[in-house]
Formats: sequence, C-alpha cells, structure tokens
Amino acid sequence: MANNAPASRPANPRFSSGPCAKIPTFELSKLSDAALGRSHRAAIGKEKLKAAIEETRDILGIPADYKIGIVPASDTGAVEMAMWSLLGARKATMVAWESFGSGWVSDVVKQLKIDAEVKEAGYGEIVDFTTVDFNTDVVFTWNGTTSGVRLPNGDAIPADREGLTICDATSAAFAQDLPWDKLDVTTFSWQKVMGGEAAHGMLILSPRAVERLESYTPAWPMPKIFRMTKGGKLIDGIFKGETINTPSMLAVEDYLVALDWAREVGGLTGLMARADANAKVIWDFCEQKDWIANLAVDPATRSNTSVCLKFTDDRIQDGAAFAKAVAKRLEAEGVALDIGAYRDAPAGLRIWCGATVQTADVEALMPWLEYAFEAEIAAQG
Ligand SMILES: Cc1ncc(COP(=O)(O)O)c(C=O)c1O
Repeated sequence: MANNAPASRPANPRFSSGPCAKIPTFELSKLSDAALGRSHRAAIGKEKLKAAIEETRDILGIPADYKIGIVPASDTGAVEMAMWSLLGARKATMVAWESFGSGWVSDVVKQLKIDAEVKEAGYGEIVDFTTVDFNTDVVFTWNGTTSGVRLPNGDAIPADREGLTICDATSAAFAQDLPWDKLDVTTFSWQKVMGGEAAHGMLILSPRAVERLESYTPAWPMPKIFRMTKGGKLIDGIFKGETINTPSMLAVEDYLVALDWAREVGGLTGLMARADANAKVIWDFCEQKDWIANLAVDPATRSNTSVCLKFTDDRIQDGAAFAKAVAKRLEAEGVALDIGAYRDAPAGLRIWCGATVQTADVEALMPWLEYAFEAEIAAQG
C-alpha cells in the first residue's frame, strides 16, 4: 500500500510538554506593557505581581483564605520549598507513579533523610489512594507528566485528615479540576497549561499549611529562597507579590497576558474543555488503531494534558528505536516538535494537549502519526 503523506498539516506543530505552546493569539507585541527596567518593588512591579496572584486565584477558584505566592525556581522550587519547610513534623508518605513523583521521593528520603513510607506504581499505573494514610503528610503529583497518568479526583483524601497534602500540580493546573479543600499545598509553573514563560513557581497554601509553617521549625538549615517565615510568623508580603528575590517582569507580563486569554476562552471551564477536546482526539484515534495505545492502563486516569502513547504492533523490532524514529520523522516533516517520550519513561510518544493547543492541530496530526508509523514499519525491512 502506498504511504502518501497527508495533505494537511497542523498550523502549529508545537506539542512539547513544557515549555508548552504559547496561547494561540500570542505575539511579542502583547508584552509591550511589561514593567521592564523597573524595580519589582516599585508600585508598578508590585501591582503586576499582585495581579498575577489574584487573577490566578480568580480563574482557578482558589479560596480567599488560601495564600498564593510567586516563588523562585519554577515548579521544582515551589515543591522543594514546601517539602523543606513543612516536612518532618509528622510521619510522611511519598506517593509516586512516574519520574517527577520519584524525584520528590528521592528528595525526601535521600536529601532530607526522612523515614517516609514510599508508595510507588509503575509507568501507566497509579497508586491506590484509598491505601494512603492521610494522617501522615502526603506528597504526590496530580498529573504524572511523564506517564500521562493523573489522579481522577480527590475523593480518597479525607476532609478531616491530620496530615498535610502537598501536591505538585504543574501539568494539571488550568486543565483539571483541583479540589482545593483536599489540597494543603499546591504548586505549578507558568510554562505548562498556560504556555507562559518558565521562571517562577506558584505556591498555594491552605490555612492548615500556614498553621504548620507558623508552629514548626524544621531541624535542617533553610536557604534564603525557601524561607517563608520570620520570627515564627508567615512573611505575608511573599503572598502579596513581594517576592523573595528578583522575578522576571517579562515573564510576569506574559503570564498576565495568558490569564487574560484564559478569560476569553471561558475561564477554567473553557480551559478544561479545550484540553479534554484535544486529548479526546488522540484517545479516539487510539481506539480505532490496533498499533498504538494509551500508556495509562485505567481510562479514568488518562491525562488530558500529557498524553503518553505506546506502540503495540508485533512487527516492531526495537521499541525504543522505533518510537524515536517516528518522533524524528514527524519533527523532520515539521508537523510535530518534541513529542518523544520523556527520557526515563517507557518508549513511545508524548503529545501535549493542554489548553493552548488547538484541537484542529491535534486532528491534523493524527494522519501524520499513521503515516510515520507505516513509514517506519516499512523502513525496518
Ligand atoms: C509533574 C512535574 N513536576 C515538576 C516538573 C518540573 O517543573 P519545573 O521545570 O517547572 O521546575 C515538571 C516538568 O515538566 C512536571 O511535569
């Protein structure tokens, strides 16, 4: 059978899982209002930082009594700041089912040397949250970006838990419904679902998390960029835009522009619907083909942002080489950039479907996927 290249191609081939595609209306001229060359402590800088915090609260529906801070070192900075500041007061449970979650396990067990209970599942699977003791402090990732497996909801997290829940939600925020009453610490970074510029992390604290910060001092030294309290009190300014150290005002402006766009597409509901529609295109495609499948075993846990796929055809001789060749071919054709599986994940593809990706582009990519698959099968000889 002749394997002809499809006639149409995605208008935007950017399907990377971070930095993710910019908002569809992006132009550099939209950043012209940035407070460049001005102090972030000047009124203009502080207003923009505060606006980024309050717009985030509004769009994500974060309760008024939760604190939201813009912190250094992207999502990793926010997660590590939380773990270093809060853990050690009671027993901890580390829950992981892919690479980023495993990174937090390693931080806690090897660096902080906390004797935590570690609950792990392999790529494609998820840990059963009903087996987790929420009277311990529990650290987990909402959406496993490298396996495409997400927590479907927070039902297993009890409202009357004694421990804190610390949730890395970087590839979930703005695309998945996060139950704020079940989350004491939530983190994310701007370059994911909002297609913002990478630089800063968002750290969201429940009143219980603040209470812990004000009543507990960890035994280990605390670097300046992790310090959230002074004299046993929360440094409230951090949560009003008075950042610990210097932020990028260009990145702040870009995030504000993305938040404006989020409103234009219907706020959180609109953003979630866009990610859902994008992911559904791929899920439906996989249903129709017997050579490709979602890495997520349970459909209820399939991510609508980082959709991870595996090739299942018996004719494939070397799985890793095959998947790499498919991704390379699609990149060379200019139809899909950066869609190889994460380096530690099983061989396959990962196609970002967050809100900034256009559904028409995902649709246009599917015939190319088949084209590249058939071309590589033929190339194996
Ligand atoms: C689930 C998860 N956690 C953490 C990170 C690290 O994020 P950052 O580079 O913003 O620190 C990523 C990045 O892809 C991620 O997907």
